[in-house]
Amino acid sequence: MLVLTNARVATMTGPQAAAGEGPLAIIEHGAVACDGDRLAYVGGVRGAPEGDQRIDAQGALLTPGFVDPHTHLVFAGDRANEHALRLAGATYLEIAHAGGGILSTVRATRAASDEQLLAGARERLARLVRGGVTTVEVKTGYGLSVEQELRLLRIVREAGRRAGCEVSATLLGLHAVPPELDRFEWVRQVVQELTPEAARQGARGCDAFLEKGAFDAHECRAALEAGAHAGLVPHLHADQLSASGGAQLAAELECASADHLDRITQDGIEALARAGTAAVLLPLAAWFLRDPRPAQAKPLLDAGVTVALGSNINPGSQRIESVSMLLAAGCLIAGLTPAQCLWACTAGGARALRLDDRGVIKTGARADLALFATKDPAHLPYHAGVEHAQLVVHAGAIVHDGRAQALSCS
Ligand code: NIG
Repeated sequence: MLVLTNARVATMTGPQAAAGEGPLAIIEHGAVACDGDRLAYVGGVRGAPEGDQRIDAQGALLTPGFVDPHTHLVFAGDRANEHALRLAGATYLEIAHAGGGILSTVRATRAASDEQLLAGARERLARLVRGGVTTVEVKTGYGLSVEQELRLLRIVREAGRRAGCEVSATLLGLHAVPPELDRFEWVRQVVQELTPEAARQGARGCDAFLEKGAFDAHECRAALEAGAHAGLVPHLHADQLSASGGAQLAAELECASADHLDRITQDGIEALARAGTAAVLLPLAAWFLRDPRPAQAKPLLDAGVTVALGSNINPGSQRIESVSMLLAAGCLIAGLTPAQCLWACTAGGARALRLDDRGVIKTGARADLALFATKDPAHLPYHAGVEHAQLVVHAGAIVHDGRAQALSCS
């Protein structure tokens, strides 16, 4: 039994919208014990079991393992040229219309071997784990044929084995129209052939990209209804570049999450609140695309919407692979307080994926934990660009131990 003692245990059982450290619901001088993959004890140091492996946290901050609910991290190729074009004034959609964008990654991904794709995905997952992440959602969407999407799904699942985190696979068939098909035929294949087969082959979620130049509400509805029918958890890329009624559609379809939301309207916010659909904000993507009006957390929190943060690692709209930069962006760009931001990366991410056994520290929850080299939660989004996780535990096992190199930073 692994026992961590003398920690500031941020349980994440407070309300997200609370001020100060309220969302964290901290147990001072706390201890947790892992029995197999579950937390068997959470409380004061005095009542903690002995355990055969005991670690003194020396007053440092202990949180649940982070949950990243939005990534596209299985891909090949490099789109630095598009980044340069955007910096020179081109827009994301202009680049896509000129044959770049998602389709350029589709070409590179189809041409790559399984081994190359797996190696890239494993590296990216390992970086997330070192930052404290223990659950990662990974979307397909760069295959864009039934065969290639199922291949990517297999690679997503394979990358999750022995990765030090759990990988939750999401089918994103409606990411772009494949170059060799017309859109009606691709939507038909996604709805009738790909979705049921992906559900049989281990996808957990389904997603669609509702946007001008991508798919319309009718097409996204068909894909997500097919996904729900096959038992998949629905998500929607919504209101990223234009106000397209995406939040309202996600709410109507009872999606677990609506993601991006840089152009969400007040009606959309109210619809998410009524439906209990989580808002997954992706502030690193808003920064990367130099969005002048990135999604703000406050109106969502005021309306009672759960706010989660995702890294959105992908080769086009967000190539920054850093958990600490995500925390910084959650505060500096989305306007979360440090405590709300940590909650968004733990309890928020778990809700956005409908994984109710994690994202909080409580007895019976999965033993996913991150111990940081600071006592102060505000230090993490403040001292960004440096990963502060000194110990990461996934399902009761230590998957990253950086204590020897830990910085003394607070
Ligand atoms: O979530 N918006 C659509 N999908 C990705 C971008 C994918 C790409 O450009 O390759 C996103 O930002």
